[in-house]
Amino acid sequence: MIKVTEQACLRQMNTLALPCIASRLIQVDTVEELKQVYSSYNLDTGNSLIIGSGSNVVLPEILEITVLQFTASAIKLHPQDDVSVNIEVDAGVLWDDLVKAMVDKGLRGIENLSLIPGTVGAAPVQNIGAYGVEVSDLLLSVEVFNVQTREVETIRHSECDFSYRDSAFKQNPGQFLILKVFLNLSKIRPFTLGYGELKPLLGRKNLNVAAIRARVIEVRQAKLPDPKVLPNVGSFFKNPLVSFKQAEELKAQYPDLVSYQLPLNVQSVKLAAGWLIDHAGWKGHRESRVGVHDQQALVLINHAGGTQQELLSLVGKIKHSVWEKFQIRLEPEPVIII
Ligand code: EPU
Repeated sequence: MIKVTEQACLRQMNTLALPCIASRLIQVDTVEELKQVYSSYNLDTGNSLIIGSGSNVVLPEILEITVLQFTASAIKLHPQDDVSVNIEVDAGVLWDDLVKAMVDKGLRGIENLSLIPGTVGAAPVQNIGAYGVEVSDLLLSVEVFNVQTREVETIRHSECDFSYRDSAFKQNPGQFLILKVFLNLSKIRPFTLGYGELKPLLGRKNLNVAAIRARVIEVRQAKLPDPKVLPNVGSFFKNPLVSFKQAEELKAQYPDLVSYQLPLNVQSVKLAAGWLIDHAGWKGHRESRVGVHDQQALVLINHAGGTQQELLSLVGKIKHSVWEKFQIRLEPEPVIII
């Protein structure tokens, strides 16, 4: 069913709970409806914004464009053999509902991505990742509605241009509306347990996929605030890449600096942005109605009805202070709509 709302309030449609009035909100759940909507309204890139569940977007108070939401939510399983299953899943399914359903079937591959907020359609856009796994590790292809040609197309993994929290979809905002994601999961895929907080599971007898999901949920709940209680978009900044030389100089000055090992062919070092912001003194800081989480400095919180302006003012100050102290430029992770 096509649902059109003029002057739509999006406060409850973004996990930062930022106040936002969009000129129009259109919700559809089939491709036919989508085509109908594109022929009836001016929805060219620049005139429209595609939104999932608003878990990675920073919205302005007034949004003078049409917001489009595709809400189809079916999951289909296509077994390939006794152990391997291809999953065809609609963009409107909540990502963690998919993870739970697959873990319940004993399928392995996405358990480390448990409890990540957002929809399946948003997952490839920023190539969601956690505890050593990224959605690009499991993804076969993406079915999209090409906004320019108005055709449904299949984009193969090799064409998605995936990298750390980045993809062709993120680089070309508004060009593709993601309809479906195809993943490959398996009953025998080895678990990924190298990340510090999952290491205690290594060597545990009869370890199963449900135990890994339970551990990931435990770790995330201990560190990351629930957006329903403290509105947030998860990590607000990407972990920055710096040269070996700069990382060495910083390590000499700050021996406990946290860095991540990257593949050998990558000529840079990834640092923990949370550590940098924390050591620049921001953890738990609060100003006007927004602030920095008191347990994970990478997460910004909207405490009490704060606006995009208040949040971006805080972001500017954090970026400036991390630059002054470490000469590192932090880049926001969510999409900021001005
Ligand atoms: N740290 C501090 N102070 C802080 C926060 C972190 O010193 O306030 C240190 C921690 O002690 C740790 C290191 O920084 O040694 C890294 O922290 P953490 O393990 O929490 O991971 P992260 O690098 O901050 C990334 C992802 C998360 C993902 C986790 C686990 C990014 C931007 N963030 O966080 O993803 O869940 O690793 O894999 O890559 C997200 O994208 O929204 C997200 C939550």
